[in-house]
Amino acid sequence: MADSTLLLCCALFVSAAWLLRTQFRQRSSYHVIRNIPGPPSNSWLKGNFMKFFDRHGQLFQQDVALNYGPVVRLEAVCGHKMLYISDPKALHTMLIKEETVYEETDAFFASMKLLFGDCLLATAGEHHRKQRKMLNPVFSVSHMRHMLPIFYSTIFKSTCWNGQVALRWSSLGRGGLGYSFDPLAVNTETRNTYGDAIKAMNTSLIEVEVFRRYLDILMELGPRRFRRFVVDMFPNTHVQHVKDVVDTMDEKSREIFRKKKTALAKGDEATLRQVGEGKDIMSILIKANSAASEQDRLPEDELIAQMSLLVSAATDTTSNTLSRILHLLAEHREMQERLREEILKSSAGNGDISYDVLNKLPLLDAVCRETLRRYPPVTILIRAPRKDSVLPLSEPICGIDGTMIKEIPIPKGTELIIGTFGCNVNKSLWGEDSLEWKPERWLSPLPRAVTEASIPGVYSNLMSFIGGKRACIGFKFSEMEMKVVLSVMLSNFTFELTDKPIEWNVSGVWYPTVGRDSDLAQLPLKVGLYKA
Ligand code: HEM
Ligand SMILES: *[C@@H]1O[C@H](CO)[C@@H](O)[C@H](O)[C@H]1NC(C)=O
Ligand SMILES: *[C@@H]1O[C@H](CO)[C@@H](O)[C@H](O)[C@H]1NC(C)=O
Ligand SMILES: *[C@@H]1O[C@H](CO)[C@@H](O)[C@H](O)[C@H]1NC(C)=O
Ligand SMILES: *[C@@H]1O[C@H](CO)[C@@H](O)[C@H](O)[C@H]1NC(C)=O
Repeated sequence: MADSTLLLCCALFVSAAWLLRTQFRQRSSYHVIRNIPGPPSNSWLKGNFMKFFDRHGQLFQQDVALNYGPVVRLEAVCGHKMLYISDPKALHTMLIKEETVYEETDAFFASMKLLFGDCLLATAGEHHRKQRKMLNPVFSVSHMRHMLPIFYSTIFKSTCWNGQVALRWSSLGRGGLGYSFDPLAVNTETRNTYGDAIKAMNTSLIEVEVFRRYLDILMELGPRRFRRFVVDMFPNTHVQHVKDVVDTMDEKSREIFRKKKTALAKGDEATLRQVGEGKDIMSILIKANSAASEQDRLPEDELIAQMSLLVSAATDTTSNTLSRILHLLAEHREMQERLREEILKSSAGNGDISYDVLNKLPLLDAVCRETLRRYPPVTILIRAPRKDSVLPLSEPICGIDGTMIKEIPIPKGTELIIGTFGCNVNKSLWGEDSLEWKPERWLSPLPRAVTEASIPGVYSNLMSFIGGKRACIGFKFSEMEMKVVLSVMLSNFTFELTDKPIEWNVSGVWYPTVGRDSDLAQLPLKVGLYKA
């Protein structure tokens, strides 16, 4: 009884605080935003924005990105507005020119802090800059080169089960095809615990979205032990689920950290080999941190937080993108043949291709780029200005009342969705065929409209890894990993569709399922042995 009264009080307090805050936030400059076109909403209370975040949100996301222009108004709860932005100039302002103004929301920082600790995704400003400074060199080309053998050796092990005919998506990135964790964590048992923890989080994170939106307020409620008590008592299975996952991840990260630190300190060969010969990401990070000057060095807790974040940021993203590529190659058999030919030619039939050769294979590169362009795996990315601001547009847009809008005043705190997909498939940039998957478009020079639009993406004029100071730190790592896996898989196997219909589902990272009703993330393909 006492517990439920307490919960009720918390809930009331949170709603009151939220209402007060938002009433202050969204004010008179609102008339321009109200005039921006967007999909209809038939509820003032609920708005239409949750359709964007829904697991079946694919069609709604496409509708928003393709049918209303470069800036689209979405309705959030109680008449609040959100904007979906795919205009290159506006995106450039958000991610580069005024990067310190358009930050992640406080609720996002708070949820990342709860999930991983003080990691890159939980910090802003100078704190974030300091962390990036420590982490950037870990992802340098020379480290990637040294990591290549680790990639090859782990995939080779996993391809040995070639008697199997169905490639389960969930086995990509752990267990069966455990390549994806090895350059990070190495040890099998740890890898699986991590993998299980992260996989288990699959749907729960989206389900707790409602609570995540209040997290910054919740995080200020009383001392840490009280908050932990509230979380422990919280009567929601998804919240409990996320809590358990967080605990497991933290515990495992600490364990890896301790093991690696001891191994590196001892410099003992046998232990080092066990933990990845010191060439995996975690070891490089630990070494770089102990070599850094006092003022650059990150505290141990932050280092551990980065490890949890890296494992989680690296796995679902890369394995789902690989699944997408395999799905597309199974659909486009001639492309699969051409790609296999290119790979086999460069390896001359005797195994591992070097980093530099692999990186220069034009068709392999084109297939990766085109897949990331047409199917960006991450489409839920939000920024909100820290103060009242103005977003400039590449070209004026026509408001609902017929007036032209040249720039948009954005009240402090208005949530803006980064239109990764919308910008990646903009017809005036990529041409009339922008919605088609056509790797060939990367084999000749890109249209001038693309190169001249100053799209702020770090990678190939695409928004898939976004851009600016908070761009994906692992995009090169991910690209290399995909190329290695594809080169080994295509040299040995052929991929065909089965008669099961495959659907892609919106989540933090999009994932495939069989048909409408399945609850299991998987990508069944017919896998055959390739004999030259
Ligand atoms: C296809 C694969 C991947 C995609 C599409 C992807 C996409 C992204 C995106 C869109 C962000 C920005 C998130 C935000 O601002 O809220 C991001 C951030 C990040 N990614 Fe990736 N990522 C991929 C692979 C990886 C890999 C392999 C790693 C690590 C090895 C990684 C590590 C990170 C980290 C640490 C951040 C936070 C950076 C910061 O805030 O400073 N990602 N990624
Ligand atoms: C496409 O790009 C052009 C050129 O930058 C821009 O003017 C236009 O608004 C963009 N359209 C969309 C839907 O983003
Ligand atoms: C999510 O995880 C739960 C529990 O681990 C599992 O039963 C469910 O099938 C998973 N769902 C997806 C879509 O992977
Ligand atoms: C895969 O193909 C490569 C190159 O043709 C070959 O060296 C390797 O032995 C094959 N691996 C398996 C598991 O068949
Ligand atoms: C996955 O997405 C498709 C397309 O939106 C949808 O039909 C299907 O029901 C979704 N599957 C699940 C398990 O949500």
